[in-house]
Amino acid sequence: IDNGLARTPQMGWSTWNFFACNINETVIKETADALISTGLASLGYTYVNIDDCWSRSTRNLKGEMIPDPKTFPSGIKALADYVHSKGLKLGVYSDAGIFTCQVRPGSLFQEKNDAELWASWGVDYLKYDNCYNLGLPPQKRYPPMRDALNDTGRTIFYALCEWGIDDPAEWAGKIGNSWRTTDDINDTWISMTTIADINNKWASYAGPGGWNDPDMLEVGNGGMNYHEYKGHFSIWALMKAPLIIGCDVRNITADTLKILSNKEVIAVDQDPLGVQGRRVYASGPDGCQQVWAGPLSRNRLAMVLWNRCSKAATITANWSAIGLEPSISVSMRDLWKHEVVSENTVGSFSARVNAHGCEMYILTPRRSTRSSI
Ligand code: GLA
Repeated sequence: IDNGLARTPQMGWSTWNFFACNINETVIKETADALISTGLASLGYTYVNIDDCWSRSTRNLKGEMIPDPKTFPSGIKALADYVHSKGLKLGVYSDAGIFTCQVRPGSLFQEKNDAELWASWGVDYLKYDNCYNLGLPPQKRYPPMRDALNDTGRTIFYALCEWGIDDPAEWAGKIGNSWRTTDDINDTWISMTTIADINNKWASYAGPGGWNDPDMLEVGNGGMNYHEYKGHFSIWALMKAPLIIGCDVRNITADTLKILSNKEVIAVDQDPLGVQGRRVYASGPDGCQQVWAGPLSRNRLAMVLWNRCSKAATITANWSAIGLEPSISVSMRDLWKHEVVSENTVGSFSARVNAHGCEMYILTPRRSTRSSI
């Protein structure tokens, strides 16, 4: 939607993938501190998002949601003030149903009051889930919250979490800044690759103001190896996905930090052209040797050679597959080696890629060697 936000996909951190309901205000503050001290905040990870379970199970007598007094005794406003003082933004979570998925109060039919309360706390982001929805269609349940957020006068990012059930890419662009295209991710290779493939189908609907959301990052949570996480991050960036970190940033490892802080890969995600890259070619057993690509600003291309096979493989990208004239000469910059690996490549490019690994490049066409007249 045109609320001035999401000109590029949102970046930040969320509690859910690592902490689930095991959250409290100390974890949020410590994570905000860690986003700063690791340098992640200055790379663009600015939203600090509290997912399900921040609210007490029942509303108060005035019908207001109240922060769980055991885990958030200082309240959400105090947390918002804290993260704002660090230059970060605060997100909360609710549900377009009568309860959240963890059976805390939902906001269906209470959109106005809830939005006003969050705005009064200084909330900057809402993730809006889909549990206990009384079987009402999402097209009826999600717009009232858009309008309620808008009416608060505060600029609040609106992230729909409808799980892709009703093909939200087709209608959510007028409602939210992003929409989930799939069921929940989990920290496994099979989940991550399946979700990438589903999200890929909706590529043409993404753009500045509204993005397909293949769910939050699992990088650093332990269920995949380094190569797999590198592919997860590279493909999410190529697909212009929200980059919402899902690990415990307070205890982040060097390998995880190396992946999440790759500036050149982040720049692909945040490229101002805002076109979602897609799978353009697959070969080998079950099509496991894949080429994903998409256009970038300034006439460049981003490309990922993604080896989803269980053995190392050489993957070749033909210019025709990635939408280049066969005679075009490009320079190839490797976004993981951080160097130009070829100054003058024509027709195709091949690289050896680890099992479940990837290589990622930016291709910049050189001045045409032929006369253009
Ligand atoms: C749903 C959402 C998840 C998470 C949980 C919280 O499953 O899809 O992303 O927010 O609810 O309960």
